[in-house]
Amino acid sequence: MTSLPDPCRGSRVAGQAVCVARSDKGDFFAIPDRCTHEDYPLSDGSIWDECVECPVHGSLFDLRTGEVAGLPAFEATKTFPVALDGDRVYVEL
Ligand code: FES
Repeated sequence: MTSLPDPCRGSRVAGQAVCVARSDKGDFFAIPDRCTHEDYPLSDGSIWDECVECPVHGSLFDLRTGEVAGLPAFEATKTFPVALDGDRVYVEL
């Protein structure tokens, strides 16, 4: 559980590093807080539409699916279901 994030925020859920992100459309998503390219926190990145951009080399991950939307990463990431309750975001691992 975390409070409503800025566009992108790192959080720990049950001991796991999670990136909770709000898309430009205002939808919330959660993915592992780890770039599949070189293991860097995606929560330090930027949101573009419904993607998060890794701050290191610029890989893009689709927050809806976890698929790579921009190189150099080629390995997709997972996505976690989220639910909103007031100003809280709940992440299901
Ligand atoms: S570490 Fe994320 S794109 Fe390289």
